[in-house]
Amino acid sequence: METRTQQVMNWIDKRFPLTKMWNEHVGEYYAPKNFNFWYFFGSLALLVLVNQIVTGIFLTMNFNPASFEQAFASVEYIMRDVTGGWIIRYMHSTGASAFFVVIYLHMFRGMMYGSYKQPRELVWIFGMLIYLCLMAEAFMGYMLPGGQMSYWGAQVIINLFNAIPIIGEDLSVWIRGDFVISGATLNRFFAFHVIAVPLILLGLVVAHLIALHEVGSNNPEGIEIKAHKDENGKPLDGIPFHPYYTVKDIFGVAVFAFFFAIVMFYMPDFFGRFLEHPNFEVANPFKTPDHIAPVWYFTPFYSILRAVPSFAGTQVWGVIAMGASIVMLFLLPWLDRGPVKSIRYRSTGFKVNLAVFVVAFIILGKLGMDAPSPVKNIIAQICSVYYFAYFGILWYISGNEKTKPVPERITK
Ligand code: HEM
Repeated sequence: METRTQQVMNWIDKRFPLTKMWNEHVGEYYAPKNFNFWYFFGSLALLVLVNQIVTGIFLTMNFNPASFEQAFASVEYIMRDVTGGWIIRYMHSTGASAFFVVIYLHMFRGMMYGSYKQPRELVWIFGMLIYLCLMAEAFMGYMLPGGQMSYWGAQVIINLFNAIPIIGEDLSVWIRGDFVISGATLNRFFAFHVIAVPLILLGLVVAHLIALHEVGSNNPEGIEIKAHKDENGKPLDGIPFHPYYTVKDIFGVAVFAFFFAIVMFYMPDFFGRFLEHPNFEVANPFKTPDHIAPVWYFTPFYSILRAVPSFAGTQVWGVIAMGASIVMLFLLPWLDRGPVKSIRYRSTGFKVNLAVFVVAFIILGKLGMDAPSPVKNIIAQICSVYYFAYFGILWYISGNEKTKPVPERITK
């Protein structure tokens, strides 16, 4: 006898492969049994993505992108008058920074365990495209509240396009939709922020997960679990994603939500890092803030831009260096030539190189927040050089690396 639920499921399955999809991606998706702390961040990224979309929809209901003044006033209205508006806004603004915290840790995990390597190159490339979209999304989002930093940040970044020879000036007018940053600019950034980029982002996340589930997850040991299967074709070192990892991920969500709530309720501006203080003032094209700095998640790249001296009055080399610093990350799967994936079995050279890279990235991030000074500029130049050197050194050492033997099966 079929239960009512089974009957309904059968009815659906005959018309839409619901059970098949569930089994393929959750119920019978075999993931390595040794996932650790670092494997929380993929599901947390999904959680933050949903948070941004849902809170974004509610913000849009009361936001007015017509001009900087109206945008600023509508955000004040959301904060003071709309029921629950303040919490929706802080969930969204805290979510933006949380997204980058989660994504940087997620990417670092990939670099530690060689998750970008064969056969997961496309998982990494889709991830990098997601990262680019996230940066565009965050940049345009930061312009929307119509504060001083919204205006001047956009001014600095859009003016970078002027550095491109011949077409630069026309290009920046085209991007702004005006000769200066205006309501027209705000309007188009709003359109991109609420629909165009999120659509692309969602498509890329789906592609990221389909690619991952096609090849299967890597793990902290860097062992391919598909190499050893039982008589039913199930990986011996794998466990079904549901219920094992759904339950584990719920624990990760609880811990994450705890820290998220602390920031959201007690320090939503996070000492001027998540919401910069000049942005509590309405945009004023006639008053340049003392110090213009992008939000923290952009500052490593901003530092690289500033570290390159301008030649003949053009910043074009800085812009190229900044672009190249992101392109290098795309190339990781091919720059790392070693057969061993996990840091656990790689050489000391590999470990030191990665550790110095992380330190250089953090220093660049800190320097990008500060006003420039001659000493800071030299430190930024050294760290920028190391940023690029990391990739060269990785290529060199991975060509002939002394690694430890990787076990056949997962035992820890
Ligand atoms: C919206 C953003 C993103 C979402 C929702 C997302 C989601 C996920 C999920 C759910 C997983 C499987 C669970 C896990 O391994 O943690 C995963 C794995 C992975 N992601 Fe992402 N991801 C995002 C961005 C990125 C970015 C920016 C990169 C790198 C450039 C990246 C690279 C990877 C890699 C290499 C794996 C496989 C890891 C392994 O098997 O060891 N992802 N992602």
